[in-house]
Amino acid sequence: MPFLDLASHHAPLRYEFHEAIQEVIDNCAFAGGPVVAEFEKEFAEFCRCRFAIGVGSGTEALWLSLLALGIGPGDEVITVPNSFMATAEAITYCGARPVFVDVDEVTYTMNPDGLRKAITSKTKALIPVHLFGQTADMEPILNIAKEYGLKVIEDACQAHGAEYNGQRAGSIGDTGCFSFYPGKNLGAFGEAGAVVTNNPELYDKIRILRDHGQDRKYYHTQVGWNCRMDGIQAAVLRIKLRNLEAGNQRRRSHAAHYSNALCDIHEVITPATASYAQHVFHIYAIRVRNRDRIMQQLASRQIGCAVHYPVTIHLQEAYRSLGYMRDSFPVAEKCADEYVSLPMYPELTPAQLDHVAYGVRESIVNSA
Ligand SMILES: Cc1ncc(COP(=O)(O)O)c(C=O)c1O
Repeated sequence: MPFLDLASHHAPLRYEFHEAIQEVIDNCAFAGGPVVAEFEKEFAEFCRCRFAIGVGSGTEALWLSLLALGIGPGDEVITVPNSFMATAEAITYCGARPVFVDVDEVTYTMNPDGLRKAITSKTKALIPVHLFGQTADMEPILNIAKEYGLKVIEDACQAHGAEYNGQRAGSIGDTGCFSFYPGKNLGAFGEAGAVVTNNPELYDKIRILRDHGQDRKYYHTQVGWNCRMDGIQAAVLRIKLRNLEAGNQRRRSHAAHYSNALCDIHEVITPATASYAQHVFHIYAIRVRNRDRIMQQLASRQIGCAVHYPVTIHLQEAYRSLGYMRDSFPVAEKCADEYVSLPMYPELTPAQLDHVAYGVRESIVNSA
């Protein structure tokens, strides 16, 4: 039972992939080009946003968003400590300082209650992270941002198609940032990402920044970077995008299956879906006290599992200089000690889901 089975996801689409990739080869549109433009149009539509800009990764999407919003040295950007490292790295790349606030114990996303205390005269932006496929509670976050004149960048790298009160993830803040890393709900055949926005000025800025600061070939209005999306990745993503809604629906149904099968085990906390949310379960993470022993038991039953993420960002060695200590963010730290991500992908069968749930039950009994 692998944690992730991309081969089974790709198998039925194999010939479509071959054809689309062959077309890119025939047209030699490898870096940017018409296929990327087509994908951008379709992905913007999917996110119910005016614009999408294809870039090289989710990290680049975050970084270019920050640059386009004018974030730089001396600024502070508030985010959460229980995310992938890239969320904070993008802030550091701009010369700004990442500042963390704790998360809500039920949704594992930015807790708006802690925000005001973290805001200083240097704060310029907020990056809520839609962790595991569920959006943060955006309304109170946006209200605070408005009150203090802060920009909001949604880290939607794990939340393709998720919704907040009917609004698509990514379409709510100033920009929304997506990763198309292969294992994501919408994954490329390598590295890729996108920024979505409703703001035409930000669209222009990010489009130009990702292409060496040029709007017209060889006429550079500013110093940019090379963050273009590959044509082959766009071709693959266009095919997978058509299957994304169905895949997300299957993930929700698998999550319900797991939660139902595990609901009577009081040692297990299953993920909750907030009343505002349409969850897309990029990750299905349970929480357990005896994590290491339970994971050993699952491994001995050949059930693939993982931890997202074992060390919160504020306690990473790379960020020691920020001066955070253990117990700075008790909820995020507790969750990092307890999370176990179970296999989650659309192709899982009911028998496989039952097998995993049974494995969890037995592992808990044997670890007691
Ligand atoms: C929450 C989050 N933010 C940012 C990123 C960075 O995306 P990428 O790996 O495409 O650079 C990821 C990728 O795993 C992520 O999960």
